[in-house]
Amino acid sequence: MNVPSYVKHEPVKAWVAEMAALLKPDEVYWCDGSQEEYDAMCQALVDAGTFIPLNPEKRPNSFLARSDPSDVARVEDRTYICSLNKGDAGPTNNWMQPQEMKEILNGLMDGAMKGRTLYVIPFSMGPLGSDIAQIGVQISDSPYVVVNMKIMTRMGKAVFDVLGEDGRFVPCVHTIGAPLEPDQEDVPWPCNPDVKYIVHFPEERSIWSYGSGYGGNALLGKKCLALRIASTMARDEGWLAEHMLIMGVEEPSGDKTYVAAAFPSACGKTNFAMIVPPPAFQENGWKISTVGDDIAWIKPGADGKLYAINPEAGYFGVAPGTSYKSNPSAMESIKENCIFTNVALTDDGDVWWEEMDGEPPAHAIDWRGNDWTPASETPAAHPNARFTAPASQNPVVDDAWEDPKGVPIKAFVFGGRRSNTIPLVFQAFNWSYGVYLAATMGSEMTAAAFGKVGVVRRDPFAMLPFAGYHMGDYFNHWLSFGRNVPNPPRIFGVNWFRRDENGKFVWPGFGENMRILEWIVNRAKGGQANAVESPIGWMPTHRDINWNGLEGFTKADFHQAMSIDKHDWDKELLETDELFIRLYDRIPKEMIAIRTLLLSGMWRSPEHWEMNNDPT
Ligand code: OXD
Ligand code: MN
Repeated sequence: MNVPSYVKHEPVKAWVAEMAALLKPDEVYWCDGSQEEYDAMCQALVDAGTFIPLNPEKRPNSFLARSDPSDVARVEDRTYICSLNKGDAGPTNNWMQPQEMKEILNGLMDGAMKGRTLYVIPFSMGPLGSDIAQIGVQISDSPYVVVNMKIMTRMGKAVFDVLGEDGRFVPCVHTIGAPLEPDQEDVPWPCNPDVKYIVHFPEERSIWSYGSGYGGNALLGKKCLALRIASTMARDEGWLAEHMLIMGVEEPSGDKTYVAAAFPSACGKTNFAMIVPPPAFQENGWKISTVGDDIAWIKPGADGKLYAINPEAGYFGVAPGTSYKSNPSAMESIKENCIFTNVALTDDGDVWWEEMDGEPPAHAIDWRGNDWTPASETPAAHPNARFTAPASQNPVVDDAWEDPKGVPIKAFVFGGRRSNTIPLVFQAFNWSYGVYLAATMGSEMTAAAFGKVGVVRRDPFAMLPFAGYHMGDYFNHWLSFGRNVPNPPRIFGVNWFRRDENGKFVWPGFGENMRILEWIVNRAKGGQANAVESPIGWMPTHRDINWNGLEGFTKADFHQAMSIDKHDWDKELLETDELFIRLYDRIPKEMIAIRTLLLSGMWRSPEHWEMNNDPT
């Protein structure tokens, strides 16, 4: 094996050699992360038929890939947390005894890279050398993965300088599980359509992924390392690895407050991370900037504040629904140097997806490679089609997004997609209560997410598919973490998705969410923003929100968006009981106590608490 001289880390070398002996690739290639390497690999992907180069006039240096129809999303039912003890994985994760799983994987991986190249991909999650960052080394036989990792992480040989001779790294093995016989012709998207395993060994801090080349199944730095493995590291080491965006909110005075927010998949997290304040706010000098759109790693600093980094370097965003209306900064971020997967190809060599601005094209090639017209019965882009874009191309990327020390977090926001029950905004009474509200959060499923459309899936902290250990222990970790921080950030619940009796959204959403954010930031800073006590937390009254420039949203509309209905909440509490019963062996006592308090609050209030003590 030809190991570059800059690799001084014997355990990495030994591990790569061991894996190469198992996987039996034709070649081993150590990625250096250079632009020349990226360009050459993109060209090789074009030659192989995996990439279609887009029209350079419309979308410079960008490519379209179409995956195999069996390989279009994360496979939660094939995702395992193989802790030594089954109880440590908890009831919300799939589990198998680690030895048993290793036997299966060793069997599957034996010779799995025959006829292919094994790429060694060194990467840092977080700015190189940051105290909060972590290093991974991924082995993969997918050049598509290599080029995506180049955008999504700090990838390349500089990682070995940080790793030195004995630095800690997370070994990540990935194969698409499609060996090639000597004369076998390859397909544009090789994968294993029948067998997939996404496996985490939390004690060993290692990741093994077999059979898929798509997204979080294959770009192992993202969900596998930055959430599942990192959450177990964070539990053991006293920090937080969260499924959260991080944004900066700058006031007219120039004062900037950083907010971290968790929303389940398909709730518009990328849009919120880049919201455009309404004109009246912009004129006054309000500015929003993005540190991250999906993951936050948060550590207490010596000054007692919590510092967060975005471990990623790019956005792997859902394309359908992204437009200049919903997210102009995302549209600007994807103008060039991007990879698109499973979107439609227009006749002029550009990309298209449902709800992009303007009229749909009269003709396009859909994500399966078939002709498509607006009369077609199937969507042109797959609902989980993605763009991979460098974060540096975001016009509102925060100045400190690459600051190794991170940004100080003042507020945590939690929100799901709920057509009823949950009000537009409320503030937790205290840290433990905030943990309760995040723990019991739910979201209605959309086509893009798992399960039955419209049904509420409990998704504690938006971490259901991403916590690498028992969810009850995870709640406990949050509780004890808060106890050890002198002045922990304030915690808020939001719901942009409430509907009226006719099924229409009550709240206009998008940039108008800035109004709610202003109140949140003011409360989090201990400012003047007023609030009243409701049965479920502190809430703004109508006069506590800045309505400047918003036409047609009445006080009555606001009260509807904020209302708390006892019958809905009875149902909510019963549903959260189901979650608590599942987690019974490790549920913190605080969760049960808070549930009881919440019940008593509901009984105290009128049946339909409609801002009845709004004095304005
Ligand atoms: C994502 C997800 O892709 O949460 O970020 O599913
Ligand atoms: Mn996500």
